[in-house]
Amino acid sequence: MEEITVQDTIICRCEEVMLSEIINQLESGSETTKELKLKTRAGMGMCQGRTCRPLLEQAVSFHTSNAIPCVSDLTYNTPIRPLALGELARYGKDL
Ligand code: FES
Repeated sequence: MEEITVQDTIICRCEEVMLSEIINQLESGSETTKELKLKTRAGMGMCQGRTCRPLLEQAVSFHTSNAIPCVSDLTYNTPIRPLALGELARYGKDL
């Protein structure tokens, strides 16, 4: 049976980013979640970081010994899911 280590943990399931990649980036000098996002694509997947953002913030906090920020420095892109323009055009009329 193959041994699974902590570094085999998936941090971002949308972009398939492992904890080992996050640790490598932190050890290479990255100090913010934004840097990790840009270098690994963690947080750029379909869920836009809903799942992995807290994990990235915890990893940065642990590595830098800084408190987890109350307001994340990661941005979201909307709409999160594909939306037909027709649906968007009807949205205001139904209100
Ligand atoms: S889990 Fe990271 S973007 Fe979805």
